[in-house]
Amino acid sequence: MYDFTKSKDRSNTGSIKHDFAPEPVRGSGFIPMTVADTEFPAPPAVNEAVKCAAEHGCYGYTYADKPYMEAIAGWQKRRHEWEIDPEWYVVTNGVVQALGIAVRAFTDTGDSVIVQSPVYFPFYGAIEDNGRVIVDNPLVNVNGRYVMDFADLESKCARPEVKLMLLCSPHNPIGRVWSADELKKVAEICRRHGVVVVSDEIHNDLVLFGNRHTVFASIDPDNCIVCTAVSKTFNLAGLSCSNIFAPDPVLREKFKKAAHTSGCGCVPYVARWATIAAYNECEDWLVGLIDTVEGNYLLLKRFISERLPRLSVTELEGTYLAWIDMRALGMDHEALTKLLVEKALISDNDGAMFGKNGEGFRRWNIAIPRKTLEGALERLEKTLNSI
Ligand SMILES: Cc1ncc(COP(=O)(O)O)c(C=O)c1O
Repeated sequence: MYDFTKSKDRSNTGSIKHDFAPEPVRGSGFIPMTVADTEFPAPPAVNEAVKCAAEHGCYGYTYADKPYMEAIAGWQKRRHEWEIDPEWYVVTNGVVQALGIAVRAFTDTGDSVIVQSPVYFPFYGAIEDNGRVIVDNPLVNVNGRYVMDFADLESKCARPEVKLMLLCSPHNPIGRVWSADELKKVAEICRRHGVVVVSDEIHNDLVLFGNRHTVFASIDPDNCIVCTAVSKTFNLAGLSCSNIFAPDPVLREKFKKAAHTSGCGCVPYVARWATIAAYNECEDWLVGLIDTVEGNYLLLKRFISERLPRLSVTELEGTYLAWIDMRALGMDHEALTKLLVEKALISDNDGAMFGKNGEGFRRWNIAIPRKTLEGALERLEKTLNSI
């Protein structure tokens, strides 16, 4: 019913992935697989809602009214079995913004914050740029599937200067959908040591192959905030709106205060209309997107095992970001980037961006038409055969 076989030409729209792609790929028929937005237009019902917003034409200050909160609550209940109280709500203009706010709200200068590398690189900035210290609890790659090191997490949480953990759930870039058991262990360890959890659940709806996302707040509501958004699910990142939930009143007050200090307070007018339409009317569109991503992942996996056996791809449970292990090529990450980006014109992400243990890996955004992915794989094969 929805067409996920074609992409839109995004040049001259200000797209970071396209118009701000680095030289030499910009404007040269490159394969766009970097920034985590999709090459597919948003659902038609969202576009209709945005048109209605434009027809009304009063782009004034806007907040989370009843239809907005009902749309969010209905979605979270249907998709994630999570009952939201509107009282818990705090708006921010993006999840990355919320991460920085949370760091300032729940820690003091010089305190330490846990991350699990390799991880979405703005996690590091949210900590260091705010004068806090990164403490890494690296994920462990067991035959191509990453797991948490709970003993290490326990010992790091026990350090008195550790006050906060930034959890990525589902995890970008390694594609895990953490199980309820894993999250329970994280919750127990953090609670035992008085470490607050910020659960970045922006990829919560992009869960593949029958996996299930567990909302952290459904496990330990009193010791966390949960960051959600429509942006990844429906390709609406440019609307700059995120929905943050803090069930615990003390954490909520701290977060709200820090959010206001950072100038947050309004739901962007267009985002309000788009969110209501997306959550109320676009579940079937999401089914189509997930189906496309699953099919793309299976193609990627098969191609790699049959035609590029020196590479391997991590099991993808969630997100549309595939994590490809190219360590066996024996190239350092700069040489690999030169080869892929400059020679093959595959615009992807260097795994080293996500942490030192990401070196030798590449992150491919596979929310692209299948034909484009096939083109990328063929280019990759040709380029690797030529060296
Ligand atoms: C884990 C994670 N958090 C946050 C973001 C960005 O969120 P926002 O655009 O709402 O700041 C991304 C985008 O790739 C992401 O992968």
